[in-house]
Amino acid sequence: MPTSGQGRIIGGWLAPHPPHLVYGENPPQNEPKSRGGWESLRWAYENCRKRIKEQKPDVILVHSPHWQTVVGHHVTAVPKLEGLSVDPIFPHLFRYKFAMDVDVELAEAIHDEARSDGLIARKMTNPKFRVDYGTIVSLHMMNPDWDIPVVGISANNSPYFYDDNIGQEEMTKLGEATKRAIEKTGRRAVLAASNTLSHFHFNREPNPELPEDMSKEHVFSQSQYEWDVRVIDLMRAGKTKELMAILPQFMREAFAEVKAGSLTWMLSAMGFPEIPATMHGYGTVIGTGNAVVEWDLESRR
Ligand SMILES: [Fe+2]
Repeated sequence: MPTSGQGRIIGGWLAPHPPHLVYGENPPQNEPKSRGGWESLRWAYENCRKRIKEQKPDVILVHSPHWQTVVGHHVTAVPKLEGLSVDPIFPHLFRYKFAMDVDVELAEAIHDEARSDGLIARKMTNPKFRVDYGTIVSLHMMNPDWDIPVVGISANNSPYFYDDNIGQEEMTKLGEATKRAIEKTGRRAVLAASNTLSHFHFNREPNPELPEDMSKEHVFSQSQYEWDVRVIDLMRAGKTKELMAILPQFMREAFAEVKAGSLTWMLSAMGFPEIPATMHGYGTVIGTGNAVVEWDLESRR
């Protein structure tokens, strides 16, 4: 692991985490088996996998809404994490045996940088910690070989307690702390914002006999779909300032999961880049809007 020289973020991905995507893949780690499904998103993730194989980053960092912490921002800081992760809402789709190597030095640096900036931060050092399905699904879909160390970052739930701006300001600071930690530890890092876009969803599975029945999958509502397109178009146009300006309204009107702060954290770490993002694919999962989107900082150096 490099420990000297100037580290940098080489790319960032909007990397949504519906457990259905792993279920549709049928990897050996996941107990339930499917006939496939949600291919438009799974094919989009194949582009991400290819890109990561080419780039060979030292580490992948993921900020997940489903590792929710009430006090402060937590980072995984134990060398190896393994166990069984079960999705509490979809246990029939996701019972996944995970095993991941953690970049502890970087995790500790993020912790230290966050605290030096006045944020509350904690190191998660429990080797038996059950990693949340958001972290696992994003990481599995990006790199199913699990041969690159990772750092997991929790989603402090302040955006859900205070107004949207206070929560997102915290995530902005956390992103800056993450960037400094990556630079100081000399890592070539890829970031993942584990967020769905619009998040109203069906209140029951359309076909309980066959969850992967794609004839029943569709957008939850036209207005929610239009919101997703508006947000994605701003990403594609590199209009990051405008994107950040409409996020609070997007959160309110489309119940967008970006409220958990993962996207804000990632864009902040990348310096809110005004570069066109590459849209790899959009698809719904039980009606929610999901997009796999790439910000490529490497080829723009
Ligand atoms: Fe989620």
